[in-house]
Amino acid sequence: MTKHRDAFTVSRSDFPEGFLFATATSAYQIEGHQFGGAGPTHWDSFARQPGKVYKGQTGALACDHYHRWEGDLDLIRDAGLDAYRFSTSWARVMPDGKTLNPEGMDFYDRLVDGMLERGIKPMATLYHWELPQALADKGGWTSREIPQRFADYSHKIAARLGDRLWSTAPVNEPWCVAWLSHYEGYHAPGLADLRSAARAMHHVALAHGLSVEALRDEGVQNVGAACNMEYALPATDRDADVEAAQLYDGIYNRWFVGAMMKGAYPEDVLEGLSPHMPEGWQDDMALISQPLDWMGINYYTCKRMIRSKGDWPAYGTVDGPLPKTDMGWEICPEGFDWLLRRTAEEYTGDLPLYVTENGMANAEPADLSDHARIDYIDRHLEMARDMVRDGVPLRGYTIWSLLDNYEWTLGYDKRFGLVHIDFDSLDRTPKASYHALARALER
Ligand code: FCB
Repeated sequence: MTKHRDAFTVSRSDFPEGFLFATATSAYQIEGHQFGGAGPTHWDSFARQPGKVYKGQTGALACDHYHRWEGDLDLIRDAGLDAYRFSTSWARVMPDGKTLNPEGMDFYDRLVDGMLERGIKPMATLYHWELPQALADKGGWTSREIPQRFADYSHKIAARLGDRLWSTAPVNEPWCVAWLSHYEGYHAPGLADLRSAARAMHHVALAHGLSVEALRDEGVQNVGAACNMEYALPATDRDADVEAAQLYDGIYNRWFVGAMMKGAYPEDVLEGLSPHMPEGWQDDMALISQPLDWMGINYYTCKRMIRSKGDWPAYGTVDGPLPKTDMGWEICPEGFDWLLRRTAEEYTGDLPLYVTENGMANAEPADLSDHARIDYIDRHLEMARDMVRDGVPLRGYTIWSLLDNYEWTLGYDKRFGLVHIDFDSLDRTPKASYHALARALER
């Protein structure tokens, strides 16, 4: 059961000196894409298709962070957070996917300096889903040209900002970019096609590899990745359901981390995808698995899997018994613990691990006493503390999100922020979780 609390039980002093506490946002979800010469993205087009996005909403205005970024950085500093995981928007920096928009680049230059002035470490992500429409028109992630373009964009960002970034990751949540968007059809471009998905599953990995190479060429330090993971549980102990859970784990959790850390995709997933993979994919695996300085994991929930009828992967999910967030996601800190430990044991070894996202959607009461969010974060932080004590090389924890923002397909209907946004006035009001966090992080 959710406990009602207005304070964290865990605090900074439970972690070793230097453990990083951060919060995350992403460009399209907060900035206001209509400002500053940004180009159209595939999310704008997707939102125009009837029934795809809650009320057809887009990131056109979002939280107007483009104009209010200084106050937002003050909020991060005043919470006592050490780092800010933000993203640069490809469509803002290169509106047509290839031509530089100086105004867009200047924005990130000011933003990074603003973080440094406030003592906040800038953790950059280069792609958090706003593909320029001009590149979507060329086939998007199903086309091999897009990773090449992404490398060019990575060079440009690195050349301008690289000397001041504390850490950099190329692609946020490769699974979402590839599978959720091309097989499940739930995110832009909304395809539900195995062949497109297989190609995207490889091209996104290739984009990671090419981007890492570009970043290294420009002398960027502390390069990593941000992979999302979900804890896959069989709904029953029937063999078919156990196999369904293993396959889900393979597609979701082992595909990208396997490619990045071992230079190999998991065999069980290849059984279904290899007929659809782009020709010559094997030749890219060395590039994809270049050494990284850290691995990031985004974690929110678990899934209960069953075998279903139909074509590969022939699995489905059933409702689980745990309390759920407003996303309908079960609150399952045990899965967080299991996935981080498994990743360290089987893939990343001594490499520093970071939780690059964790948090919950919750509609607050009017007084913004978001006790459920405090409880959610606290329970995951307890797990993090214990893992660190057990020697898991976990070096930081990031809360999604600083602000209520554009939650993709669900528009502005779901609230993940430590800080409440009134989407009419755009006023920012820290919630109880923000205040509790500030107390927990005090030195
Ligand atoms: C993650 C995304 C982030 C946000 C959270 C709730 O998958 O990286 O943009 O939507 O989920």
